[in-house]
Amino acid sequence: MPTVAIISQKGGAGKTTLALHLAAAAQDAGRVSLVIDTDPQATASQWAAWRKDQPPEVIDSPPPRLAAKIKQAHEQGAEFIVIDTPPHADSAARAAVEAADLVLIPCRPSAFDLSAIQTTAKLVQLLRRPAFVVFTAGPPNAPRVYEEAGELVEGFGTPPCPHQMPDRAAYRHASAEGRTVMELEPNGKAADEIRQLYSWTCLQVDVSTPRHKGRVAA
Ligand SMILES: Nc1ncnc2c1ncn2[C@@H]1O[C@H](COP(=O)(O)OP(=O)(O)O)[C@@H](O)[C@H]1O
Ligand SMILES: [Mg+2]
Repeated sequence: MPTVAIISQKGGAGKTTLALHLAAAAQDAGRVSLVIDTDPQATASQWAAWRKDQPPEVIDSPPPRLAAKIKQAHEQGAEFIVIDTPPHADSAARAAVEAADLVLIPCRPSAFDLSAIQTTAKLVQLLRRPAFVVFTAGPPNAPRVYEEAGELVEGFGTPPCPHQMPDRAAYRHASAEGRTVMELEPNGKAADEIRQLYSWTCLQVDVSTPRHKGRVAA
């Protein structure tokens, strides 16, 4: 069962937004998905409360209980798990990375944010987990920005994900209402970008074909 950890030392990098949207995209594609919120600020859990238990399910967990929670979720039928983590918390990030098949590191493509991911990059290298940087909240339609930022993070030993989650107002509107960008604007650019990011994630974790509603996975 694929388990994806979202980590970054920076607050506001887009961790929770990415975690919730990946899980929601998996759910839209017909997988039972779950977000495990290890952040004491409980932003993901708050979003779930606003949705009144509409999927994806969000549960919280202190980092030391992660492995047990994942095992339990698996037994209860979870098919896709995303772990959201707090900023500035080495131990929580470490626990999430250890539990994950794939690590995604959201990062704004700005100089300060880019240089701050070196700590995170070292952690995933130390624990030998496959990891990619996902650029978030950067300008849409600016390939050069992502090329340059990509070269820089590649130099830190963490390759860039070929899909971004650029700055779109839809995220701010959706999260304030406890919704996803797919629910807010199903045909919008943000929804499209998330679906691409999800499909790419499936390939990284060996779920060869994203499952669609009413169909059995290939
Ligand atoms: N791609 C994006 N476009 C626009 N706003 C975004 C994007 N990603 C995140 N945000 C906004 O940035 C803020 C911080 O995002 P959040 O996911 O809570 O970061 P973190 O969990 O890393 O602290 C939120 O208000 C969120 O709505
Ligand atoms: Mg968060």
